[in-house]
Amino acid sequence: MLTGGETPRRAYELAAELEPDWSKVALWWGDERCVPPGDENSNFRLAKEALLDGLEVAPAAVHRIRGEFEPEQAAREYERELGETVFDLVLNGIGPDGHTASLFPNAPTLEERERLVVAAQPGLEPFVQRVTLTIPALQRCRAMIFLATGEEKADAVKRAFGDPPSPATPASLVRSAKGTTTAVLDQAAATQLPR
Ligand code: 6PG
Repeated sequence: MLTGGETPRRAYELAAELEPDWSKVALWWGDERCVPPGDENSNFRLAKEALLDGLEVAPAAVHRIRGEFEPEQAAREYERELGETVFDLVLNGIGPDGHTASLFPNAPTLEERERLVVAAQPGLEPFVQRVTLTIPALQRCRAMIFLATGEEKADAVKRAFGDPPSPATPASLVRSAKGTTTAVLDQAAATQLPR
């Protein structure tokens, strides 16, 4: 499961270089901005440019969230598509406010326990509506990786991994239920974590 945002761009490029055959992979997304797939703010577009376009053999399946649909409809369709899927790997980013996927601080989406995918209001730029996986969907994975770089993420990283879990920092609430959760950070993003 791929994340949006700019941080994973280089990781996607390297992943395509290191392994150009993705025929055994099914791709999903954790969230999408409600824009068409070719839009500069589309999470699908970033993954297409940085990862999919660089592959020699395409993934077995590419499950794109329909950002061009009305958000509630896109959420319902993606939930149906998702079914009982358990992810091998969930990749998450963190926003400077501590959000992950499109689960924003203190948003009602954090309390969702039944739905796997919901429509969400924008909490940060770009200010467009979102479709996001919920905590029950994200946690259904064998491994979860958070990727964060730069000092503008240092406070959010500390709150997500150094402080007690809180709805003020959604990334602190999202963990693999039965597998591993790992934070991959550069020096700058890790500066406020206890040593
Ligand atoms: C989105 C994301 C979001 C992202 C963080 C970090 O669609 O906005 O999925 O959760 O991962 O905002 O974004 P950057 O990597 O651009 O800092």
